[in-house]
Amino acid sequence: MSSKKLSGEVFYPSEETINKAHIKDWEALDKQAKKDYPGFWEKMAEELHWFHKWDKVIDDSNKPFYKWFTGAKTNIVYNCLDAHVKTFRRNKLALIWEGENGESKTYSYFALHRETCKFSNILKSLGVQKGDRVTIYMGRTPEIIIAMLACARIGAVHSVVYGGFSVESLAERIEDSNSKVLIVADGAYQRGKIVELKKIADEALQRCGTVEHVLVIKRTGQEVNMEQGRDMWYHELMNLPIATQNCALEIVDAEDPLFILYTSGTTGKPKAILHTHGGYMVGTHTTLKYVFDIHEEDRYWCAADPGWITGHSYIVYGPLLNGTTSFLYEGAPNYPYPNRWWAMIEKYGINILYTAPTAIRGLMRFGEAWVNRHNLSSLRILGSVGEPINPEAWKWYNRVIGKDKCPIMDTWWQTETGMFMIAPMPSVPLKPGSGTRPFPGIEMDVVDEKGKSVKPNEEGFLIIKTPWPAMIRNVWNDPERYKQYWSKYPGVYMTGDSARKDEDGYFWIIGRVDDVIKVSGYRLGTAEIESALVSHYSVAEAAAIGLPHEVKGNAIYTYVILKSGIEKSPQLIEELRQHVSHEVGPIAKPEHIEFVDSLPKTRSGKIMRRLLKAKALGQDPGNISTLED
Ligand code: WT7
Repeated sequence: MSSKKLSGEVFYPSEETINKAHIKDWEALDKQAKKDYPGFWEKMAEELHWFHKWDKVIDDSNKPFYKWFTGAKTNIVYNCLDAHVKTFRRNKLALIWEGENGESKTYSYFALHRETCKFSNILKSLGVQKGDRVTIYMGRTPEIIIAMLACARIGAVHSVVYGGFSVESLAERIEDSNSKVLIVADGAYQRGKIVELKKIADEALQRCGTVEHVLVIKRTGQEVNMEQGRDMWYHELMNLPIATQNCALEIVDAEDPLFILYTSGTTGKPKAILHTHGGYMVGTHTTLKYVFDIHEEDRYWCAADPGWITGHSYIVYGPLLNGTTSFLYEGAPNYPYPNRWWAMIEKYGINILYTAPTAIRGLMRFGEAWVNRHNLSSLRILGSVGEPINPEAWKWYNRVIGKDKCPIMDTWWQTETGMFMIAPMPSVPLKPGSGTRPFPGIEMDVVDEKGKSVKPNEEGFLIIKTPWPAMIRNVWNDPERYKQYWSKYPGVYMTGDSARKDEDGYFWIIGRVDDVIKVSGYRLGTAEIESALVSHYSVAEAAAIGLPHEVKGNAIYTYVILKSGIEKSPQLIEELRQHVSHEVGPIAKPEHIEFVDSLPKTRSGKIMRRLLKAKALGQDPGNISTLED
């Protein structure tokens, strides 16, 4: 490390941490990567197996549609499973799973390879081919991972819809992706109750017409409707003779689609972010290895949901590419008691824990005694993601969970980036609340309206200045929306976040500058919540904003204009909250609904959410020259 004294409150890594770390000298690696970033990523790519090497590392002949490792042949699943099965890792645990009800299952790399192949064969027998989209909708059980890998193995494109989404969200994602197959669980356990996923899916399927086959995984066991000719049980199919444990792997181009994942944007419908096999594989493998300093003997737990990008990159692909042992937990953090997570860390000897500030703040509320019942000495590294972590939560995490000896890797990234972009490594000095600096090989900055770098500690737009391997390749069905990311300044990717950079070059994220709300780390668009409200018979117009919340980071506040003749009532408020929950999902349920007679709009008719927010917070509304009335 450079010996320069850093400003502010700094936590330096211990001797022990540095000695163990893969990267002991971050500055040297960064310097080398800055000289030649394609060369840096090329070297990283060489750590993985390719059926045929690339002609070019980056092809920028059709900007902003960058391509990586062009001409290369691969399949990410080969590096996740097949490559390990040929080594001593054949018998190593790939996955340890615990159900909310306490049951547990493990899969060796051999077993995960076998189950994946069997499922791939079933998908093939149903006519799923390379390039076809398959929607997956289930809770946190091993089958979600098997389903994703089974699709990728045969070159099909998975589209996972988070199990916390509901009818309309699922329907529009199935329809937009034009999925012919839906893989769904009968239900999911959440806090001892059953979320009836199959029932939600049945309702969604009435609103969209693309699905021919529904494969149902039995998890919760309640009675479900099985439509003849369309619905089949997974466990029955897996027992058929066609489900053999050998399934030829589809060798694909580095740039062939791996998955799409829907995320919320500024306006309109959620967009499907496209990631491809080659670059995504290199990006997730490298970043996980160095940021979480993965060693052979580690047991790693990313407590996110596989249905979000965090789960795709750092529960499924990154860990398997690194041949590590992952832990997956099905249920709620405080079920049946607030010590659930700490009990599992002790029971399974977890070394690395990666979670979100909202979860930390939620568990903080129960007090330290719940943690101190358990021996957490196996923990070596901690991680945070999804929203800025407030210094108070950072310090609690560091002291109470990490016992002042586990560096906290605060990782900034997005569905679109596919991989960590701003993140430390264990050997890097930390400042609570900052993700430190961009990963080597990544160039980022904070700029003003004109695209000029702002002075240290000044707020500006967070941008990415060079392409990176796991970058978004397109918005499925909507290249115009993809181009928007690159449209503000030439050759520069707009993240949608505001940030500042301090005098040491450390980045501090402030928040979104668009109409995206981060609720408990989940990304929601104001447009989705508003259109759900307007789909209710009583609502004429609606506006949604995010306001600060102690545990969730932000909570959803909505303003509703009722249709004429509709009576305002507390019952109607509750009905509207339930309606949003039913249409979008429980995560989108508004905290607060207020009936109003008008909404502030620009002369072109856009709702000025900024004004609603300023008013709710009692702040100065700033420039209101575009206000209509
Ligand atoms: C947005 C992306 C990819 C991880 C899960 C979220 C916010 C993410 C951090 C962090 C401050 C963060 C940003 C970003 N965000 N990580 N460490 N510190 N903010 O992915 O749902 O696509 O959301 O999450 O606002 O733009 P996502």
